[in-house]
Amino acid sequence: MSLFQTKSVEQLQVEASSEHGLRRSLTPLNLVSLGIGAIIGAGIFVLTGQAAAQYAGPAIAISFLISGLGCLFAGLCYAEFAAMIPIAGSAYTYAYATMGEFLAWIIGWDLILEYLFCGPTVAVGWSGHFVAFLKEFGLVIPHQLTNGPLAYVNGHLVATGDLLNLPAMGIIILLTALLYIGIKESATFNNLMVITKVSVLLAVIGFGAWWIFGHPALAAKNWTPFIPANTGTFGQFGWSGIFKGAAVIFFAYIGFDAVSTSAQEAKNPQKDMPIGILGSLAVCSVIFVAISLVLTGMSKYTDLNNSAPVVNALQAAGAPVALRFVVEIAALAGLSSVILVMLMGQPRIFFSMANDGLLPATFARVHPRFKTPYVTTVVTGVLAAIIGGILPLALLGELVSIGTLFAFVIVCIGIIILRKKRPEAARPFRTPWVPLIPILGAVTCLAQMVSLPGDTWLRLVIWMAIGLAIYFFYSRHHSKLNAKSG
Ligand code: ALA
Repeated sequence: MSLFQTKSVEQLQVEASSEHGLRRSLTPLNLVSLGIGAIIGAGIFVLTGQAAAQYAGPAIAISFLISGLGCLFAGLCYAEFAAMIPIAGSAYTYAYATMGEFLAWIIGWDLILEYLFCGPTVAVGWSGHFVAFLKEFGLVIPHQLTNGPLAYVNGHLVATGDLLNLPAMGIIILLTALLYIGIKESATFNNLMVITKVSVLLAVIGFGAWWIFGHPALAAKNWTPFIPANTGTFGQFGWSGIFKGAAVIFFAYIGFDAVSTSAQEAKNPQKDMPIGILGSLAVCSVIFVAISLVLTGMSKYTDLNNSAPVVNALQAAGAPVALRFVVEIAALAGLSSVILVMLMGQPRIFFSMANDGLLPATFARVHPRFKTPYVTTVVTGVLAAIIGGILPLALLGELVSIGTLFAFVIVCIGIIILRKKRPEAARPFRTPWVPLIPILGAVTCLAQMVSLPGDTWLRLVIWMAIGLAIYFFYSRHHSKLNAKSG
């Protein structure tokens, strides 16, 4: 069989609407909330300050606009696919319908970098916040138990002498248990976390705006120069810094695409997938730009290069201690929902790949009572806990970004291919201005990939090589499509 044989859109649509065992319980509001749950996390709570201090200055707000625009292009393409082919495999399934099994496998394998690795990345960040939070109450856990055995220093892994990051492992195990029990329960928990983090961020924006109006001269001083002059090195301030900042804070936007992995659990995916994907992206973009403006208004951008820039900026502006305290809680809530939605997305992609025969059939099992893909949920949880317990954050974050950007590029190109191949197929949502929007989406994402370090590319290539070996030794021979076509 040709490596490039595709699954037909009709076949996928039948699969989507037939009995697959998962429970359809998610409303449009749940979907927007899942998107926000996955998006607002380590990126806005940590990276914004660091990227402002190192690359863009107050113009980090422009970086957020640029990166957000790239995500909007990709999000529009995701929305078309997710409404048309509402299958939990997300980009993997879209590639199967447009570019054939081989590329679908590549993307399925690549998505592991996004979902499976993002959970532990954010869990390591969560652990840092949790440890700091406990310290406020005088509770100290020995550092050997709150840090993994490996650190990432100047592109190398070095031994830390510590044992395991137990808080990171603990939160992953807890959230895995929740995902095992039910999608509805998970969505409810996510809603709570989202309400917490969004209301606290709105309070920060409110306080920041109030402070800025009260101290216009100080704020103007902090914002000047809005685009600090380039230092002579590419990416250090000036316009190149704004672009570098955009690539770095791209991580903050990751997650709106995760909504598409819940397509088979949405009550009305044709209508609600675009609402979930684009709605969450829109809400978060506005919050991100506003937060970056108030942070750099309240505090000099050079002071934001630390692990808790939001708290520090509030401190600089003399915010009440209570507000700083709730920001800590919001960060913990925010990061937990990111971990939750990522740990939700991965099992569903494995589930779809197993339904196609590319992974063992046990991966396609649905729990008879809870109606969740419990085997893949447990597999994901165990792997994520091991990764989060051992590996450092810096190493993981860039891999997550490159993996996600790669998936976005494929999804954008996929839209153009399917419009050409199947112009007449019913599309509940249409990406506007095709091929302009998908081309812009693919180019923006590629540009951000290019600005990631060479090491990250190398890891992507090694990861893909492992994936190819599995495909040729196992998946190709077990593929259902392959079996059908003989
Ligand atoms: N966007 C998610 C975060 O910032 C991955 O934590």
